[in-house]
Amino acid sequence: MSKKRIAVLTSGGDCPGLNAVLRGIFCSAEELGWEVLGFRDGFEGMLSEGGDFMILNRENTAGIMQVGGTILGTTNKGHFTSKVAGGDKMEIPDEIISKASKTCRDLDLSAIIVIGGDGSMNTALQLYRAGFPIIGVPKTIDNDLEATAMTFGFDSAVACVTDALDRLHTTAASHKRMIVVQVMGRHAGWIALWGGIAGAADIILIPEIPFSLEKVAEAVQHRDLAGLKSTMIVVAEGARTQHGQQFRKQSSGGEWRLGGVGEMLGHEIAARTGKETRVCVLGHLQRGGDPTTLDRILGTSFGVKAVQLALEEKFGMMVSYQNYEVSEVPIADAIHRLKKIPSGSQLVEIARAVGISFGD
Ligand code: F6P
Repeated sequence: MSKKRIAVLTSGGDCPGLNAVLRGIFCSAEELGWEVLGFRDGFEGMLSEGGDFMILNRENTAGIMQVGGTILGTTNKGHFTSKVAGGDKMEIPDEIISKASKTCRDLDLSAIIVIGGDGSMNTALQLYRAGFPIIGVPKTIDNDLEATAMTFGFDSAVACVTDALDRLHTTAASHKRMIVVQVMGRHAGWIALWGGIAGAADIILIPEIPFSLEKVAEAVQHRDLAGLKSTMIVVAEGARTQHGQQFRKQSSGGEWRLGGVGEMLGHEIAARTGKETRVCVLGHLQRGGDPTTLDRILGTSFGVKAVQLALEEKFGMMVSYQNYEVSEVPIADAIHRLKKIPSGSQLVEIARAVGISFGD
């Protein structure tokens, strides 16, 4: 009898911990005597004649746990893209589904594990509904996926922000400056809130709490009057003003990306306070580098759980992390809406209790 064969792919923006999941999948599937192939560059690997993939083995999965990125490659563009300019959802064209379906049939795949964020889970759900044996694994530094308390990659991104703030505090204090640090997170403020608290920011601006420039300026002036001459502002890229204004940049392909709020803030608050100001956009530093211990544990656990779901043929389900346990939920539950910081969040209250302003 031929060996049971499953596939895995990494889709959307990369993040630390992806390789830990791949290793977890390979090691636990090997225990079951299964073969694991990894499609290259996300769903795109299903499209070339015969499929573009590598067979995972002991050699190519050795030593990858601690390495950022993904050995399979990934893309947040391509033929399956579920998000188009402006964030609208797109249906996968029928001919793309037929091509992918032929590849998976020819390769005799018993399960396809899709590791991705909400756009990729939307694609995964469409494929599941078209008859593919899909299992989802949630991934994103933004931590904005519904139906899981945490995604791997988030903790590593927060660690990067914390480290950056630790470094920026010393230079800000030496020059008595204000520094505005813009962080990622799309429309959710998780990275800004966690990183800001851990890195002892003075002001944290998140999409969930619209800010006023006047209130931010007041907070800076209060600090100055109290003799605290340097101020650290962490602003999420998706933060919006009380007038609802959000800051975006258009790329050459007509797509837009969030960005620009840090520069605007630096300019406006400096003008209102007279404070010497610098702006630091952390950008893709937050996505690169080694996964933290937590992301290695989460990644390994998610990989093992995905193989268990394949064994139980629980297709259309996504691995989920709730109450310190790894379980599963329907993929459909994960993509209805983004998980944002809830109003009345305990962590926001804790931040306020230690004097952090949200500019509201
Ligand atoms: O979703 C992860 C993320 O890093 C967001 O925080 C950010 O807005 C976006 O991806 C950046 O995308 P790209 O890598 O395509 O510039």
